Amino acid sequence: MNAVFLAACSPRRGGNSDFAASLVRLTIGAPCETRRVAEEGVRPCVSCGFCDGRPGECSLDGPGDGARVLFERMCRSPLSVVVSPVYFYHLPAQAKAWIDRTQRFWACGKKPGEGRPVTAVLLGARPRGEKLFEGAERTLRYMALTLGLTWVEPLRLYGLDAPGDLAASPEAADRVCDFASELSRRFLA
Ligand SMILES: Cc1cc2nc3c(=O)[nH]c(=O)nc-3n(C[C@H](O)[C@H](O)[C@H](O)COP(=O)(O)O)c2cc1C
Repeated sequence: MNAVFLAACSPRRGGNSDFAASLVRLTIGAPCETRRVAEEGVRPCVSCGFCDGRPGECSLDGPGDGARVLFERMCRSPLSVVVSPVYFYHLPAQAKAWIDRTQRFWACGKKPGEGRPVTAVLLGARPRGEKLFEGAERTLRYMALTLGLTWVEPLRLYGLDAPGDLAASPEAADRVCDFASELSRRFLA
């Protein structure tokens, strides 16, 4: 079986998303591959039109650009988890740049995900706010739809700001572990 795919989307190393990804990895009970999206050299879509009529291809693919590999991992894994902070009510720019590269699949209607599940652990500094994760979730759901993946209700964590906040909150860390256990039970048993 392929490894569970964890896409860690914060550009900040060693922060709350990285810690959440490590908790998921330790709890899920299956091999995981974690990739830090901000370090994959993903170039942003320039709307060149290359992917029109070229199923699944992108003019920006090539040495140093990790977008294609990230899509391959996400579409072939039995389960993918996007772990991300909220930046201005959305995903960090590096993660959004990767998601925009899904355009190659939207353009041709190819759906390589074959219904496999994808979900997210989303976190932000604000202590509350029902719209805090709305932008990020909508974009992730639309990426899942475009790739032919099945979107699974994410975990939302409020009130995490400084790099060690999740590590210092046993309640929040427990919620991540419970979420990962439930994912394992539902999708990996
Ligand atoms: C550029 C930027 C924008 C941010 N925007 C928001 C925001 O809109 N709402 C919020 O609650 N937190 C916001 N934050 C705070 C981060 O979501 C928070 O610090 C998070 O814990 C960072 O995760 P990390 O430790 O994985 O990098 C922002 C942080 C940065 C650097």
